[in-house]
Amino acid sequence: MRRVLGIETSCDDTSVAVLEDGVHLRSHLIAAQDLHELYGGVVPELAARAHVELLPRMVARALEAAGLTGRDLTGIAVTRAPGLVGSLVVGVAFAKAYGFALDLPVAGVNHIEAHLHSATLEHGESPWPALCLVVSGGHTELVLVHGFGRYRWLGSTRDDAAGEAFDKVAKRLGLGFPGGPAIDRLAREGDPRAFDFPRPMLDQPGFDFSFSGLKTAVSLAIDRQGTSPSATFERDIAASFQAAMVETLATRTLAALDMTSAGALSLGGGVACNRGLREALAAGCEARGIPLRVPSPRFCADNAAMIALVGDWMLRNRASSDEELEVVASLEESGLAGAALPA
Ligand code: KG4
Ligand code: ZN
Repeated sequence: MRRVLGIETSCDDTSVAVLEDGVHLRSHLIAAQDLHELYGGVVPELAARAHVELLPRMVARALEAAGLTGRDLTGIAVTRAPGLVGSLVVGVAFAKAYGFALDLPVAGVNHIEAHLHSATLEHGESPWPALCLVVSGGHTELVLVHGFGRYRWLGSTRDDAAGEAFDKVAKRLGLGFPGGPAIDRLAREGDPRAFDFPRPMLDQPGFDFSFSGLKTAVSLAIDRQGTSPSATFERDIAASFQAAMVETLATRTLAALDMTSAGALSLGGGVACNRGLREALAAGCEARGIPLRVPSPRFCADNAAMIALVGDWMLRNRASSDEELEVVASLEESGLAGAALPA
């Protein structure tokens, strides 16, 4: 029996999971650090300190909830990249020390690779190749997944990530942080045609994204309105902005489905919770007869279950512990996005 302790501390959520035999989630805890809301964004130093406070207690609680002790574990999986360096270091240092104390192998997991596979936790093994769209606060990645460890990168954002654009527009509307869920809610009541915002890069070939021009267009529309915008104006801005985001993401993703041999579409990242995006992609997949694999919200956002899933695969395929485990802040330098395969 394999029992992997998953640890995720790459940004502002502390999460711990125990995954048995790669499929059975024995326990799963996620603590969102609300303190960042006060500052309108994640404060790296505070995030790292909160991980230090929370992580040991959460590991104890996760084992207790699973009815296990550390001695029942067979391995540890921890996020090693990409993310905030201070936050990553807390998780990796803990995993190394815990692994050393209990003589357990430690796998350093790439957070984006984990998002690519998170749908597997609820939907089971995917048909390969599968197209995967990861849309979060820090990343917008379109990847053809041929299996664990086998990826062909199709596109990324050239500037802001999708979630970042949601958060910046929400901030301009005074909706708090993170603002994606609030925009999603407001958009349901607004008119998506009230403002004709740009659909960036759709006239260009390839699968890259760009959202900074859209964000600026929305910002200018808010400036033009003056100091006290009406509730209707805010709803219409939210609906029109979300419509532009969804159309851009969905058009590129569905075009990639048409141009590859993908047998399924999987989503990951917090923005995959967006109702408009889910609806647009569900309609596109249905028209093509391709299954859409959308994780439930707790597995879309940052979570340790997906880290344990990929770590379990790594430990099965590499018996020894990752002694050289080092944290890496950027996706580009993490060795994953460069690991492109021929189609
Ligand atoms: O994956 P995630 O939890 O953390 C990162 O790795 O970034 O994603 C957080 C992002 C935030 O930008 C948040 O505003 C966005 O996901 N988000 C949403 C929704 N729920 C979360 N964006 C749009 N619509 C939503 N329903
Ligand atoms: Zn993430």
